[in-house]
Formats: sequence, C-alpha cells, structure tokens
Amino acid sequence: MAEDRAGMSEEAARARLAELAEMLAAANAAYHRDDAPEITDAEYDALKRENAEIEAAFPHLKRADSPSDQVGAAPSGAFSKISHAERMLSLGNAFTDADVAEFTRSVRKFLGLTDAPLAFTAEPKIDGLSLSLRYEGGKLVQAATRGDGTVGENVTANARTIDDIPETLTGAPDILEVRGEVYMSHADFAALNARQAEAGGKTFANPRNAAAGSLRQLDAEITRARPLRFFAYAWGQVSAPLADTQMRAIERLGALGFQVNPLTKLCNSTDEMLAHYTDIEQKRAGLGYDIDGVVYKVDDLALQGRLGLRSTTPRWAIAHKFPAELAWTRLEAIDIQVGRTGALSPVARLTPVTVGGVVVSNATLHNEDYIAGRDSAGAQIRDGKDIREGDWVQVYRAGDVIPKIADVDISKRPEGAAPFAFPETCPECGSDAVREEGDAVRRCSGGLICPAQAVEKLKHFVSRAAFDIEGLGAKQVEQFYLDGWIREPGDIFTLKDRYGSGMQQLKNREGWGEKSAENLFAAIEDKRQIPLHRLIFALGLRHVGEVASTDLARHYGDWDAMVAAIDRAAPAAECHRKAEEAIVEERKRAANEGRRADISGTRNAAWEGLDADARAAWEDLTGIDGIGATVAVALVTSFQQKTERASIDRLAGMLTVLPPEARASDSPVAGKTVVFTGTLEKMTRQEAKARAEALGAKVSGSVSAKTDILIAGPGAGSKATKAAELGVETIDEDAWLALINDAPAAAPSDG
Ligand code: IVH
Repeated sequence: MAEDRAGMSEEAARARLAELAEMLAAANAAYHRDDAPEITDAEYDALKRENAEIEAAFPHLKRADSPSDQVGAAPSGAFSKISHAERMLSLGNAFTDADVAEFTRSVRKFLGLTDAPLAFTAEPKIDGLSLSLRYEGGKLVQAATRGDGTVGENVTANARTIDDIPETLTGAPDILEVRGEVYMSHADFAALNARQAEAGGKTFANPRNAAAGSLRQLDAEITRARPLRFFAYAWGQVSAPLADTQMRAIERLGALGFQVNPLTKLCNSTDEMLAHYTDIEQKRAGLGYDIDGVVYKVDDLALQGRLGLRSTTPRWAIAHKFPAELAWTRLEAIDIQVGRTGALSPVARLTPVTVGGVVVSNATLHNEDYIAGRDSAGAQIRDGKDIREGDWVQVYRAGDVIPKIADVDISKRPEGAAPFAFPETCPECGSDAVREEGDAVRRCSGGLICPAQAVEKLKHFVSRAAFDIEGLGAKQVEQFYLDGWIREPGDIFTLKDRYGSGMQQLKNREGWGEKSAENLFAAIEDKRQIPLHRLIFALGLRHVGEVASTDLARHYGDWDAMVAAIDRAAPAAECHRKAEEAIVEERKRAANEGRRADISGTRNAAWEGLDADARAAWEDLTGIDGIGATVAVALVTSFQQKTERASIDRLAGMLTVLPPEARASDSPVAGKTVVFTGTLEKMTRQEAKARAEALGAKVSGSVSAKTDILIAGPGAGSKATKAAELGVETIDEDAWLALINDAPAAAPSDG
C-alpha cells in the first residue's frame, strides 16, 4: 500500500520508477512481441504493483511513459478464422499395455463383437501440429490450423510454401479435406537454430515449437524459408469416400501425392498392435523426426462410423504414448498459486533442466499431502519422503501435460533444510485457507474479494472455450483488473459505457490505438449473444467443465429455466450435504460401538421433511447423464452464494443467451426425449444411446411425462407399463431403426 512506500525519499522514488518503467517495458516486449517471456507472471505483477504503490505515494512523480497506463499489445488477430466443415478431433490417451487392451475391449463391447476378427492400423504419432487442407476440384483452396477443433486459423498462403503439400491433385474426390501433421526434421531444426543464433534471432526449444512458429508467420516468405514437412493421416469432409478401410484410404492419399508414414501397419490383434508399438519405439531415435507415441485406429470405416465420437475424441482411435521422460535438478523454491476456485497449488521453481528436449523450470507439486509424502488417503508415497526447498528432485513430463516432481534424493538434502510449511492463510488476500474433510486441496475462503481468485475467474471467463473475446486474453484481463477497469465479468460489457467509445485511457496506451480500442469494443459486442453452454462454462464453477456445461445446456435448454431449477433444488442439496456428513459420523460411531453402520437409515433421516418440489428438481438435476451429486452441490452452492449470485445475475442480464443447437436438427428425433428398455437385438445399448444422441435426441434412464418415445425390446417391464399409463408412444427396435434410418448417420468427422 501507499503507506508502505511513504518512508521512501523522493529521490529514491524517482529512480525506482525509472528502473521499473524500463524493466516493465522490456518484459512487455519479451512477452508480446517475441513470444518469449523472461519473467514469470507473478514477478511481472509484483513489479507492476510496486510501481502503482510508489505512484500512489508520489503522484507528482508519475512518468509520462508510466507502466500503469500501458497494457500489453493486443494479440495479432492477423490470421482470418476458418470454420472446419468437419470438426478436427483430438485423441484419447493410453499409457500402458493394459490401457490398450481396455481400448480394444471397449471397441468390441460397443459394437457387440465377441470373437469376430477386428483389425486396427498402428502408426507413429507425429509430434508437430495438425493442419487441414481443403481441395476443391483437385485444387488446394484452403489450409487451416486446428484451433479449438471447430474454428482454426487461415494459413493457406503459408501451407502453399510447403513442398510436401501438393497444389493440385489428380483423380481426387471433388471435395477433399486432407488432414495431417506439419513437422520439422531434427536435421532441419538444428540447422535453423544455428542460422537463427548466428543472425542474433530467436532460437526454438524443440522441433514442434519451430514448426508452429514457422507455420504461423504473417509473412509467408518466412515460412517458405523454413523447411517444413507434412504427413497425411486423416481426412475431414469428402464428397465421395476415399476407400472402405483406413489402410486403403491412407494408401489412396499416398497415391494422390501426399507423404504417408511408412511405419503404418495393419494389425489383427492387441498383441500385434503392442508388438508394432515396441518396434516403432526401437526405431524412434533413428527416425530423424519427433514422435511421441503410436496411434491405433479401427480399420473398417463402416465400424468407425458406428463407433462415432465422444465430445472431442473418436471412440475408434487412441494414442498410445511413449513413457515420460525424466531428469534430476534442484528445487529452488516452492511457490503457492491461488486458482480460480481458490485452490492453493504448490508450484516447484526449479533450476532449469532439459527433459526430453524441453527446458523445464516449473513443475506441479499437487498439494500439501504430496509434498509431505502422503497420498490423499494418508498412505505413504515415495516411502514417506517429504520434499523440501533446496532438495534434489526428479522431474518428469508425459506429453503436453505440466511437468511433475516424481521423486526426491534425500542423500543430497542441504543441511538445515526444513520441512515445507504449507500456508494456512491465502498468500494473496490473507483469508483463511481451509481444507474440507475429504478434500486434498486447501482453499482460500476469500471468494471474489481474493484478487487471485477474481483474476483467475476472469481469465477463465475470456478463455477460448468460454467467451473467447478477440483481443481480450488472459494478459489483458489481468491488466484491466490491476487497473480496476474490470473486476467481474459483467464489467466487460459495461466497459464502453463507462469509458466512452473513444476510450481515451485505452487509446493512449502502448500497443493500443484508436483502431484496436474500437476492435475490442466490437469484439465484446459480438459476444453479447452467447450460446448457453458457453455461458455456463464461462462462470468457472467448481466441477462444472465443458462437458457438464454442455449436458446442463442440453437438458434445460434455457438459462432462466436452469437457474430456476437450481434454485428449486437448493433445499435438497442441503439435505444431501447433511446426509453425507451424518453418514461419516454414523460410520465413526458404528466403528466405536463395534456394530454395522446404518447408512440408509441415516440418509433417510437427513432427507425427511423435504418438500416434493425440491426433491423433484434435485432428481431431475442429478438424473442428467454425466451430472452427479458433486456437480449438483457445486452448482447450488455457487448460485446460493450472495456475491457470486449477484455477479452472475448482473452478467446474465446484459446478455442474450442462445439455446443449444440440436446436434442434427433435420433428424426426426432431434430434441426428443427417448428411453430404451428391454433387450436390444441389433446393437448394444451403448451404441443405441450414442447414435440417438448424435441425432440430437436426449436419452433418459427413466420414463416420465417428458418422455417422447419408449423403445421397448423383449423383456421390457415396468417402464413399458408406466409409458402405457402416461400415454407415451412405445415402439420396438425395428420401428426405431426405421424411424432413424433415413436420418444422417453418426458419421465420423475425421480420419
Ligand atoms: S489421427 C480423429 N494420427 O495427435 C483422429 N493424429 O493427440 C485425428 N497426430 O490432433 C487424429 N500423429 O494433431 C492422428 N498419426 C496420427 C497422428 C495424429 C499426430 C496428432 C494430431 C491430433 C493429435 C491428438
């Protein structure tokens, strides 16, 4: 605070302000212009705060180029956006042989295949970045990065400079989207870094970063000078099928002139898949380019179609990752970061070390138990060895995930190193940090008064899967928060009203001009209309991720209806919480008294006297596929919390919330609620459900007045009776198939 600086002499203050201006300008340039931050976000904030405090104590010393008046440059926004005709997917991961066996088992189970032969392709997983190439009439018309899978960046001019990407195709379907990976070979990467270093330019940490940096150049001539390559391994929209199997489709892409990976192999069993994995792993070091695993895909494309997709990954493919890479280094310090939901997360600050080609200087330490050498159930991990500042620790990283600390070598522990004392108050706002029974995590109880929570919530709010406001990224909201311009999401939508459309303050800042200020307001206006699932996700409620948000949006269909339902369910959530508590107590008591715990009696007692409406709302909420009691309690808790609720209501009042799109609005069952009962003979229950959902239907587990169709197979019992009572249309499996057969099938989006 200003008082803290009051003891400073005017001379010292002037000198420090000059230093801070210089340091912050350098940090801004490193971050925004060079994509190569030199200090951590926390260090940056500390400098910014110190600057603001000195300025508050000595207002007349505020410099003309004061860092307080500057926000980082707006993101380039320089590439136009392209919506993918078919979504670009990512892959689920397998890490062990058992995971792979589970994958093939689940594919068989979904399809209802027991002994029938089932072939998979196995091929290297290239460690680059994926690209979608659209050909029309045999001509390359568009190239787009993956982006969020739905919308990517238009990098057509750059893609045309890559030798492996043909400009024209002969004998291809009229419309063909080819998908694959852009990458850089080890030799080209080393040569590029040597050239860059010599020219005093920026060097890249690994071939993947080099490939990404080279493809995303605004000047295509720079891309041309970078030796990028491309492997084709999948496809998006096609006007005619490429082939009937994955293997033959890849061969067809090869014949059309694309590079396809020579280590692609057809395997007839899990054992053959694993043998090919071992073979590729042995060849890995000599390939000359980075791979990070092996991808298995169901070979038969008709089966791929039946298996369909989960929300972001196909059921018919999986990536079998190579084991994590390890290194030892010094743990210099343990910092505590406070997240969006108040979680205190310990972060290891490390002496930088290369782990599998990437320089690592931070790693997660999970939680206080992990540091102390216990798991969440209190059992020993690492033989009970705790981790202390100054320790020699083993770091590992698997794929893209945050590096972790796996082990500690206590023989190298510096003398006098003390056990780490995990804070019991929030390091950001001083509120109590409490750990609830059964939670591994200690949380700041400050809610929105905690600046760290507020900022993290805002960052989440503007993130890509949430409001995704062009020009308003994590860095900008953080700045606007420090400036006091945006304290909660609703403030984003009143920014223009409060500061005027010219927004003098913004216009005069480095990196912002009249034009970018106008663009920012336009981008904000653009998001005043927001799909329901994005709004729910954007709120950043604990346990409510993208999948749960989509499930809630589909179920309630409308913001007001959802909020009303959550409010109605609130008393039930309280009963649930009480019941859980009472059950824990009852278990303890029973153990002491040497008798069996009366769980159901205890539970029933806690629910007694609850009114029927609350119970119905609770059952409806927790009956949504994928929404359990944990999510429901979290939702109710947030909506009951006064400040949070006021902030949510204020925000929602400024928005137009768009209802969820039926996934296949032209299908005859889109928007209908259906229930399956009895035995299905043509497909498994799982496939029937996935297929119905892909056609936009809602699949429920129980019959109610809201049910539109009951599909009853042999052996149907009480559900059929109830449907008859309620007058719900009941049909058999064949009639159901006839009903949906004309509808577009759940076609795969990719490969
Ligand atoms: S298939 C639906 N095959 O890995 C399947 N992906 O972790 C689409 N990747 O986004 C992907 N090599 O960028 C496939 N041989 C390969 C691949 C591969 C690398 C990348 C791709 C994908 C990511 C998923």
